[in-house]
Amino acid sequence: MLDNDYKSELTALKQQGMHRVMPVLESGCGREIVVGGCKKLAFCSNNYLGLTNDPRLIQAVKDAADQWGFGAGGSRLICGNNVPAESLQHRLASWLRKEASLVFTSGYATNTAILTTLSREGDLLAIDKQVHASIVDGVRSARGTWRTWGHRQLDKLTKLLDRRDYKRAFIITDSLFSMDGDIAPLVELAQIKAHYNAVLMVDEAHAIGTFGPKGAGLAEKMEVLSAVDIYIGTLSKALGGSGGFVAGSQTIIDTLINRARGFIFTTGIPAVNCLAAEAALDIIAAEPERAKRLITHASYFRDKCRDLGLAIGDSESYIIPVILGEPQRALEASKLLYDAGFMVPAIRPPTVKPQSCRLRISLMSEHTQEDMDGLLEQLTRFQH
Ligand SMILES: Cc1ncc(COP(=O)(O)O)c(C=O)c1O
Repeated sequence: MLDNDYKSELTALKQQGMHRVMPVLESGCGREIVVGGCKKLAFCSNNYLGLTNDPRLIQAVKDAADQWGFGAGGSRLICGNNVPAESLQHRLASWLRKEASLVFTSGYATNTAILTTLSREGDLLAIDKQVHASIVDGVRSARGTWRTWGHRQLDKLTKLLDRRDYKRAFIITDSLFSMDGDIAPLVELAQIKAHYNAVLMVDEAHAIGTFGPKGAGLAEKMEVLSAVDIYIGTLSKALGGSGGFVAGSQTIIDTLINRARGFIFTTGIPAVNCLAAEAALDIIAAEPERAKRLITHASYFRDKCRDLGLAIGDSESYIIPVILGEPQRALEASKLLYDAGFMVPAIRPPTVKPQSCRLRISLMSEHTQEDMDGLLEQLTRFQH
């Protein structure tokens, strides 16, 4: 009976080209992966700097497991708080020039916990229309009123703020948008925040480790780190591991420790994850050429895509969409690339709008010129 309800929904998804299945990787998630017994070049991961399988990170994980075991053993307030989590938090806070930071088990958990905890009745939670689902889910269950402003359209944001029908306003955005690869106007957002005496929350999940002189993200690159009141990051993309964090004032962090249900009522992050993140931060500090290479790759790849007449929108980064339209078209394109040896995901609703289904190409610093040119050659099939 219950199954029948869902079966018809699943059938409908299949008919609409919206059904999802998980490819099974038979290898780690590096530049090259193994799927279905075949090697593929991965243009699908967020492992932008190739750190997930860097030998130094792996060694840090092994050493950490030897010393700390794996699971944290309990919630951090009860018995799961370990020295590596404390040490990582100090390091993140000083790197991001904030008073304190707090590590969570994922970036998703970080966003939902923060938004549900900090918002109060009468608050305005203003989000860019394209923010990540974890922010959307956070504001949906928050106590304030949430409204969207048109993607990167600051006049729409100021219109919302001009209403002055709120007690406090939170301006919330991703810095690098995960499906379009475009960048939030952080300098202008910092000015707007100051003008309206609002709170600025920026999710740097896709930019941390790769942008900015010290890899601290786009806010660092645009010199507005100090204007960001609530800095969100993840350990699971360029840092090659798993976990999420927030950095901000000591008062905000103490409030989260005392009130955030997504922090209090869950097992703490394993020490292994924290020591892996520290190893990743060491590599990022010692080898800035990795991020530089990635940025150079991205600029080459975008220019070539535009020369080929591919619809890559306003991408300004190593996340490069090729917008194709209907779900079925994106699926077919992904399958063609798969057969040619490239793993590039088809992105469909609800992640993107129904008519803007796409291939989402994500580059890595480890990709070679040949890798990129090989994919570009295949992409000529999707010229407009
Ligand atoms: C902007 C943004 N924030 C947060 C997250 C969630 O991070 P995590 O994968 O660590 O849960 C993602 C994941 O894709 C993201 O794109």
